[in-house]
Amino acid sequence: SLTRKSKKEDREVLIIAHRGASGYAPENTIAAFDEALRLGADFIELDVQLSKDGEIVVIHDLTVDRTTNGKGEVRDYTFSELQKLDAGSWFHPKFRGEKIQSLDAVLDRYKGRTGFFIELKNPALYPGIEEKLAETLKRHNLHKDGDVVIQAFEKASIKRCKAILPEIQTGVLIKFTVKGISNEQLLKLSEFTDFINPNKQLVNKRLVKRVHHYGMKIAPYTAKDRASVQFLLHAGVDGIVTDYPDYIVKN
Ligand code: G3P
Ligand code: CA
Repeated sequence: SLTRKSKKEDREVLIIAHRGASGYAPENTIAAFDEALRLGADFIELDVQLSKDGEIVVIHDLTVDRTTNGKGEVRDYTFSELQKLDAGSWFHPKFRGEKIQSLDAVLDRYKGRTGFFIELKNPALYPGIEEKLAETLKRHNLHKDGDVVIQAFEKASIKRCKAILPEIQTGVLIKFTVKGISNEQLLKLSEFTDFINPNKQLVNKRLVKRVHHYGMKIAPYTAKDRASVQFLLHAGVDGIVTDYPDYIVKN
């Protein structure tokens, strides 16, 4: 499969800005995504869920409590109610007025300028979200494009995405609490995923080699300091999910 830039720069690590440049600006907002592009990210990572009226919205937590001035679950708000919340002030007063975005708006603003690591958050809570995402990507003509990777911790959801959109790139996220990843598991995963994206604490050179052996790529999360970036580069990963895209210096 074609990963963004992989044809030209096969050995170069992909910079994936975690919820945008979330070390510098409020996560999953235009401010964070704009900053990610300014800092040279190859991809922006974003989390998606559904509003009460079925809009795909970009927010990490189940509730709006931590990252807005509102309270309660995302799925109990309509999209227009969500848009009235302030998603910037919690991070710094200068970001007051940043809004929760629809995936549509984010794709409109950035397609052709960066790639997208789209994470389905809590997909079991949102039946049909995979189909809805597929429709959205088709509408933007991004459904067979190296610029998009759909990822989730939930394997069933990723399997479903691959079935609906066979040409889309996918990633399975692995929690740091897993005991290990067997070869049998890697083989099974390789049937429907292009990326294995583990917590960085699970990463070593050997895991990277094994993932590559099964024909997949590896883009661990989340590097929040320069030492982690160096460690992951040394391990030979294909992409690094980071809050600080500028910590990854390409030569
Ligand atoms: O890219 C994967 C990473 O974003 C998963 O963790 O909690 O930041 O969504 P989280
Ligand atoms: Ca995420």
